[in-house]
Amino acid sequence: MAIREVLTWPDPRLLEVASDVPLVDDAVRALIDDLFETMYDAPGVGLAATQIGVPWRVVVLDTRDDDGEKAPLALVNGRIVAREGTILWREGCLSLPGITAEVERSAHITVEYLDRDGQPQRLEAEGLKAVCIQHELDHLDGQLYVDRLGRLERKATLLEYEEVQAEGAAEGDAEPVVEVDTPERSAS
Ligand code: NI
Repeated sequence: MAIREVLTWPDPRLLEVASDVPLVDDAVRALIDDLFETMYDAPGVGLAATQIGVPWRVVVLDTRDDDGEKAPLALVNGRIVAREGTILWREGCLSLPGITAEVERSAHITVEYLDRDGQPQRLEAEGLKAVCIQHELDHLDGQLYVDRLGRLERKATLLEYEEVQAEGAAEGDAEPVVEVDTPERSAS
């Protein structure tokens, strides 16, 4: 397992459309392990392979169970097969550190995917978990949450991002400004 570098906007690799994983083998399981380690280290609620420069359809998330315990979930070749309702959620992203914006998502989703053993699975999700899955699957299509905003709000949000990054640089801060929103409010 290894902590991998998380790409930040405007890295062009974030805009790539990822490919389906043909076979869930040890290489894919190693990627899943790296994604979890990188996500927990950040810390983030979710992470897509695209964000570490791997163009495969693999995402991980952990929105915690009802008791606040870890509940890691890895989705390979995840696909949303049903949606219902809409929900407005304030999202952040490890690839756009330092800013958040409210994004409209489907409130309830059903997703089909392969687990780390390559077994087909199906799950229903709502609330943060549904938001997070939609956010992460968007990454695999080269989409960031700002791309879900209206044109003017997208522009304003990215301008704010640039300002936050510039402030960090001006303060002589070599590290990027890391988004640490509360797990209740932030996807990744
Ligand atoms: Ni993200």
